[in-house]
Amino acid sequence: MTDKNIVVETRELTKIYGDGHEVRALDGVNLVVRQGEVIAIVGPSGSGKSTLLNLLGALDRPTAGDVIFNGASLAQVRDLDRFRSQTVGFVFQTHNLIPTLTARENVEVPMYEAALSASKRRARAQELLALVGLGARLNSLPGQLSGGERQRVAIARSLANNPAIVLADEPTGNLDSKTTAETMNLITELNRTQGTTLIIVTHNAQVARETRRVIALRDGKIQQDAAVRSAFESDLVAFKNSALGQAILRSDGLPDSLRDIAPKLRELLTTV
Ligand SMILES: Nc1ncnc2c1ncn2[C@@H]1O[C@H](COP(=O)(O)OP(=O)(O)OP(=O)(O)O)[C@@H](O)[C@H]1O
Ligand SMILES: [Mg+2]
Repeated sequence: MTDKNIVVETRELTKIYGDGHEVRALDGVNLVVRQGEVIAIVGPSGSGKSTLLNLLGALDRPTAGDVIFNGASLAQVRDLDRFRSQTVGFVFQTHNLIPTLTARENVEVPMYEAALSASKRRARAQELLALVGLGARLNSLPGQLSGGERQRVAIARSLANNPAIVLADEPTGNLDSKTTAETMNLITELNRTQGTTLIIVTHNAQVARETRRVIALRDGKIQQDAAVRSAFESDLVAFKNSALGQAILRSDGLPDSLRDIAPKLRELLTTV
C-alpha cells in the first residue's frame, strides 16, 4: 500500500565513513516525510545531520538501508545528478552563489538541465526572485547584496525546478538574529503559500521553534521525533482553555463586546 502524501522515506538508513577507523555517522534511521511538512533537524555537532540531508538529497549513497522518493528506491536510480536536479532543492549555510552572475542568472543555473527556452528561464527566475522579495534586485551581483538577500537568492534558486522537497543545511548559520527571523519568515511563508516541503538542519533554537516537527539526532540515531506547536498555537490552546475561550465555544455567557466576532473566534478555536 502506498501513501500518496509521503514525499520521501528512509528505511534503516546507515552511513559508515572510514578509512582506518570507521565512523558510523548514521545508524538505522527510519523517517517518513509527508507533503507540506516543515521539519527541523537538530542535534550536536557530529550527530549526523548533514549526512542525513546529503543522503536524502542523493548527494551521497548510503552504506546500508534505503531512501525512497515518491515510492521509488534511490538505489534503483541510475542518474543521480539528473534525479537530484529535478526533485530536490538545496540551500546551504554559505549561499554558494556564483559571484560573476547576477541574482537572476544565478537562479537560472539549475534550469539549464530542464528543456526551457531562455525567455522562459528568465521569466521563471524573475518570478522566483519576486517571490522572495527581490524583484527589484534582478541584476545585482552577489557582492552587491546583503547576507540575508544572498540567502534569499539561494532560496529562490532552490525552487527553480519546482522540487518535491527543499533541503536546507544551516541556512541561517551565517546570519544575525534579525536576518535569521526574516529568512525563517520567508521559508514558512513559502511553505504556506506554495506548499513547499522543507527539511532544515539547524543549531538555532529560534529556527527550530518555527517548525512544526523537530527531529533530534544523536550519534547517528533519531533520539526524538516530535510534533511541536507554534507559539501562536500554544497561545490559542491557552485561550481555548480559559473561561472566556470556553464561553466562546459554548456560545454562552459572552460579553456583548464579543458577540459579533464570536463566530470567527469559535471557528479558530476549533482548529486547535
Ligand atoms: N566525508 C567524511 N568522511 C569521514 N567522516 C565523515 C565525513 N563526513 C562526516 N563524517 C563524520 O560523520 C559524523 C557525522 O557528521 P555530520 O557532518 O553528518 O555531522 P553534523 O551533525 O552535520 O555536524 P555539524 O553540526 O558540525 O555540521 C562525524 O563524526 C563526522 O566526523
Ligand atoms: Mg553539518
